[in-house]
Amino acid sequence: MCGIVAYLGNKKAQNILLEGLKRLEYRGYDSSGVAIAQNYQLEVIRSAGRISCLEEKLIELNLFGSAGIAHTRWATHGAPTEKNAHPHQDYTGKIAIVHNGIIENYTTLKKWLIKKGAEFKSDTDSEVVANMIGLFYDKQNATDTQELSDAERLEKALRLTLAKLAGTFGIAVICKDLPDTLMVARRGSPLVIGIGDDEFIIASDAAAIVKHTTQAVYLGDNEMAVISRDGYVTSTIDNQPVNNKIEEIEYSLEEIELADYTHYMQKEIFEQPETLRACMSGRLDLQNKNIKLGGIADMSRKLVKARKINIAGCGTALHSAMVAKYLLEELASLPVETDFASEFRYRNPIINEGTMQIVVSQSGETIDTLAALREAHDRGAHTLGIVNSVGSTIARETDCGIYLHVGPEIGVASTKAFTGQVAVFTMLALYIARRRHMSQYQLERYIDAMAKIPDQIETILLLSEMIKEVTAQYCDRENWLFLGRGYQYPVALEGALKLKEISYIHAEGLPAAEMKHGPIALITPEMPVVFIATKCDQYDKVIGNMEEVKARGGQIIAVATEGDQQIKNYADHVFYVPDTLDELQPLLTVVPLQLLAYHAAVLRGMDVDKPRNLAKSVTVE
Ligand code: G6P
Repeated sequence: MCGIVAYLGNKKAQNILLEGLKRLEYRGYDSSGVAIAQNYQLEVIRSAGRISCLEEKLIELNLFGSAGIAHTRWATHGAPTEKNAHPHQDYTGKIAIVHNGIIENYTTLKKWLIKKGAEFKSDTDSEVVANMIGLFYDKQNATDTQELSDAERLEKALRLTLAKLAGTFGIAVICKDLPDTLMVARRGSPLVIGIGDDEFIIASDAAAIVKHTTQAVYLGDNEMAVISRDGYVTSTIDNQPVNNKIEEIEYSLEEIELADYTHYMQKEIFEQPETLRACMSGRLDLQNKNIKLGGIADMSRKLVKARKINIAGCGTALHSAMVAKYLLEELASLPVETDFASEFRYRNPIINEGTMQIVVSQSGETIDTLAALREAHDRGAHTLGIVNSVGSTIARETDCGIYLHVGPEIGVASTKAFTGQVAVFTMLALYIARRRHMSQYQLERYIDAMAKIPDQIETILLLSEMIKEVTAQYCDRENWLFLGRGYQYPVALEGALKLKEISYIHAEGLPAAEMKHGPIALITPEMPVVFIATKCDQYDKVIGNMEEVKARGGQIIAVATEGDQQIKNYADHVFYVPDTLDELQPLLTVVPLQLLAYHAAVLRGMDVDKPRNLAKSVTVE
């Protein structure tokens, strides 16, 4: 949510900042701006709208400064206008800052700063940060008896400011007196310092760095860094030294390029056979018919002996958790509770010794999921993270974890992360089950079936054109239902969410039988109803629900198992998926629904990768 890029080196900052902002555009895209130090002045250029609007202004100006900060915004406080776009300057004009997160006590701080003579020009919470740093920087100039350099004064002003902030922040600061220095700090919002040859690229997401260097330092929570042309020094906000190790950014530029695709979402849907192979590689041991999960080896005993598993996540990640509930109960006989991460921390969750808390998050930065993790940890649960983004906060804070290894996901609507999450949960359930009671014979059946999934997805992807044609007949309808039972219920939720997110069509996902308790009143010939009706234990019951819809004139699109002819008696259109074990079906059935949502959005002329009001990573509550 919002993106930060900063640069200090020997190249023109403008180009590097712009390019970095484009890489982060998926994190927020309602306004953007840069502040570049040049001739002991700060050139602050901002624009409402997409980054291309900012680019037009910058091309004209062609700034030459080699140090600067930049931001792409997802509005929280204040409308997405130019005056609310970052960077924000302090009232003296010496300091500029960019900020991700929310300053919760900004109203109080703003009143205090106004009394001290500061002026405000925006409606944002972030401007208090600029003004407070400016005030402390200026005041020390007037009052300090001690001889401090400008850099020391700025650092002190920043520390004093950070100590007064409540809420979350990733901040980058530049000062016109110090064209060779940048300062950055974080609490709750990620920041990565890329270390290149005689240059530093700092960003809220490694995607903006990887073109320049793969060597990076991930700033920890409540840490800051002072970066100069000679190097960088990290410390805690309250000035204790820290020794962050330099890590390798794990993905390559190719992984975040669009290649021959029109949209990232399309690319990521079509990548799924490959990403699932990567996710299962080394874990699904086909030779020894075993599951290996190195990241949880140390916690293996605790997992196997767990009395209860809680899983928290948001959005698509929560839907994968709901699939996991069915999997873990069915395969490992473990009681599982799933939670919206945002609800978990504000109720009184029962956590006993023997509770294993799993948090699932593509980005590893979702604030509600992080808060749920911390709550569970404080209450004494063992914690396990299922995360895609390597080195993210959730990945660092859990006791153990399993990475998805599906590569960076750029499309705001999550697709390959969902199948990765479900694959990881399936392997986890099998891992625990085998150590509890599952026979080797049973395990082998699952392993063999899982190994076929990537090829099976490839055959589903061949249906894309056909799915597009069917979608074209219905994509003007404003209300849709998605229905499924058992493993397919969370898939129905996910199908509905995809459609909502990128097509702005109202869609609801429900357990098929629940339809009779209210939603059936909505069914008319105008209402497309998508049934996930694969051959499984509850197939006949789902057919019964389809008959109920048919009797009321509803239009039915079914996702069904290859070879099922009976389904054609009830459904107007059928998307066939290959047969697999019931427990593995979500990995297949979600794919036609992703394609349906994608085509609906394109046919309706929507901006698939930058849907209205959404952000890829939600780092505010
Ligand atoms: C946002 C995104 C969703 C995502 C959810 C959880 O709402 O738009 O696509 O599922 O956050 O994100 P996470 O990174 O925690 O999986």
